[in-house]
Amino acid sequence: MNKDLKPKIVLVTGGAGFIGSNFIRYELKNNKNAVIINLDKLTYAGNLQNLKDVEKEYGLSSGDENPRYFFIKGDICDRNLVKSIFSGKYFKKKGIGRGTHDSRLTTPDAVINFAAETHVDRSILSSEPFIDTNIKGTQTLLEAARIHWQTQNSEPETRNRFIHISTDEVYGSLGKKGKFTEVSPLSPNSPYSASKAAADLLCRSYYKTYSLPVTITRSSNNYGPYQFPEKLIPLIIKNAIEGKKLPVYGDGANVRDWLYVEDNCRAIDLVLRKAEPGEIYNIGGENEIENIKTVKLICKTLKNSTSDGSEPEKLIQFIADPRGEAHDFRYALDCSKIKEKLGWKPTLEFREGLKKTIDWYLKNQDWIKKVISGDYLKYYNRIYK
Ligand code: NAD
Ligand code: DAU
Repeated sequence: MNKDLKPKIVLVTGGAGFIGSNFIRYELKNNKNAVIINLDKLTYAGNLQNLKDVEKEYGLSSGDENPRYFFIKGDICDRNLVKSIFSGKYFKKKGIGRGTHDSRLTTPDAVINFAAETHVDRSILSSEPFIDTNIKGTQTLLEAARIHWQTQNSEPETRNRFIHISTDEVYGSLGKKGKFTEVSPLSPNSPYSASKAAADLLCRSYYKTYSLPVTITRSSNNYGPYQFPEKLIPLIIKNAIEGKKLPVYGDGANVRDWLYVEDNCRAIDLVLRKAEPGEIYNIGGENEIENIKTVKLICKTLKNSTSDGSEPEKLIQFIADPRGEAHDFRYALDCSKIKEKLGWKPTLEFREGLKKTIDWYLKNQDWIKKVISGDYLKYYNRIYK
């Protein structure tokens, strides 16, 4: 195993989204050495509401003369912008870093690439943004890292790291039995998963061809606070609170393995600090459950939490599956590698995590209202007619 690496300036892309914002909060709290630059385009899925507390505590406006959090609104496909961040020109031009982090805020030591178009249903409606961001955007970051990092000759402990956040969906679908390992063949079924698989292969090629220190994580379905309410769990919670129909695709028998987002953040932090370049790590929740059971569990938990006499289960509606043949039946990950090599394991049991998540959404109904834009409502009406 590598010595514990200590990256200081971490470029997080897509940090205003669900997992990225949870990761930034986790990293700033748990790694006092970390300075985070968050590069995010702020698509419909990215929202600075997700980071209000972080900005206040660690950002430029925190009153701290050594802020540890910087936000840049921008696209990972924007080659000039990405190059200027890697070369340090971006911050020099803005006058940021001078007198604060001395020469520390010059160029990223590490990249964690969360930025992506992430919703399978949207990729079926229109694949283009998925190809642009997930493939071209990843290549733009890899190329900038290659150019700027090759001239450095760092000690192992401060060596550069490029962590690419991928998904279990690149392996395709499983039947009722079996699990994917890191060497399972890639067999993506939707434009989303195909674009993620393509990015994984580009990452591999930059490691093999240029020795760029790239490590890939592939996690199962995340859930928890700040997840945009187009994904199953927050959508069902939101609709149940509002007394709207709870749409279940097909017969609800599809199986997902749910991972509490903070467990994923802890795994990514371990990968950042301890993992070997060129490796891939599966990160699973070990909480496999059929969709219909998840929906019923949310209804039951909400009923107990609100005790307002509502019967959310009555709102369940089975609808024609908008994914058709692209709807993967089951995902399941073998996580022995990350357990053995990095000492990680998921800590939160699904019922406990779901209760925490539901409590968060109940307390943060204002957040839901703020993140739902006109664009989202148009999409919702198209999918759920
Ligand atoms: P999300 O949709 O909540 O957030 C994506 C973020 O990326 C948003 O803030 C968005 O504004 C930003 N973004 C999109 N295009 C961009 C671009 N061109 N340039 C800069 N920023 C851009 O996504 P998430 O659920 O937090 O997922 C994060 C990563 O984790 C993705 O790579 C996804 O494939 C992967 N992943 C997600 C899950 C899950 O269950 N959510 C599971 C496994 C893997
Ligand atoms: O497995 C990791 C992946 O998990 C990530 O790579 C993706 O970015 C993320 O979106 C997620 O993909 P899924 O398609 O599994 O998640 P979603 O929440 O969209 O759907 C979960 C399951 O619930 C899936 O079988 C489809 C079903 N579903 C979804 C929605 C939105 C419904 O039955 N009804 C719904 O309204």
